[in-house]
Amino acid sequence: MADQSKLIWFNGEIIPWDEANIHVMSHVLHYGSGVFEGIKCYSTENGPAIFRLEDHIERLFISGEKYGIIIPFTPNELTKACVEIVDLNGFENCYIRPIAFYGYDTLGVHPKNCPVEVAVASFFWGAYLGEDGIENGVDITVSPWKRLSLEAFPSSAKASGQYLNSMLAVKDARERGYDEALLLNQEGFIAEGSGQNIFIVKDNKVITNGENASILMGITRETIIQLCKDMNLEVQITDISKDMLLNADEAFFTGTASEITPISSVDDAPFGDGTPGIITLQLKEKYLNIIHGKDNQYKHWLTQINQEDVLNSVVSE
Ligand SMILES: Cc1ncc(COP(=O)(O)O)c(C=O)c1O
Repeated sequence: MADQSKLIWFNGEIIPWDEANIHVMSHVLHYGSGVFEGIKCYSTENGPAIFRLEDHIERLFISGEKYGIIIPFTPNELTKACVEIVDLNGFENCYIRPIAFYGYDTLGVHPKNCPVEVAVASFFWGAYLGEDGIENGVDITVSPWKRLSLEAFPSSAKASGQYLNSMLAVKDARERGYDEALLLNQEGFIAEGSGQNIFIVKDNKVITNGENASILMGITRETIIQLCKDMNLEVQITDISKDMLLNADEAFFTGTASEITPISSVDDAPFGDGTPGIITLQLKEKYLNIIHGKDNQYKHWLTQINQEDVLNSVVSE
């Protein structure tokens, strides 16, 4: 169970965690008709700060548009809701989960007059693939489940129902003793993990795939591409075949929850001696410094939680 926190922002109100309930006949429960975000807040020397908040909120609205889910709040209001809920719950480090979904009205697949409801929760969530995984690397397996084609789902939308595919893949991987699944796309190229993008490193070149590979366009992926450029590391965006992956020198996952998680092996075939590679470690260190506000060059990616501002804005409403 997610670690509870005290309060949740729900349709514009701050309410106790236990009271943030919806009806069992809500459209989202039956058809997965919701879009959501996963955002992280980290401690910095100036207090907690949310990483790339505006980019996540922008993606939430784009995901909504792809499904015609019109969010009845402005991006600014939801940005503020994220800051407010972290602050009111008193977190330094936490995960933030905004979700917009069709609520209770009709049970027809066409949502007709179903209201769009919006919640923003914040709670503590430790290393997604475990402390050992993020430190020493994870063992992954190529999933028998494939990502659906771009003609079946807009893969670049972060939509609730699309995660059934991820759930099947990660359950299968865990049952077979692996830490995480790697899904191929319909063309047989590498797509992504159940909740992460993938990078490989070959001859000092950092390689990842693009939108055509049926992936979520991860904000951490985009961050790493930017960092590679800034660190003068060559980056290539191209389809990745299974052979390219198996012959790579290093591989790592990226994601808000997974951060930079080294991959030790694929289907029991290790990368090198199975320990995290040099470029993976360089990028990971850079990323950790940035999210904890230790790198001035990237402070624009942080939304500092200024306690007084938030509390004043709550009082004045
Ligand atoms: C399927 C999938 N791919 C990739 C990612 C990484 O995206 P981001 O870096 O924006 O968290 C996620 C994480 O939410 C995901 O669920």
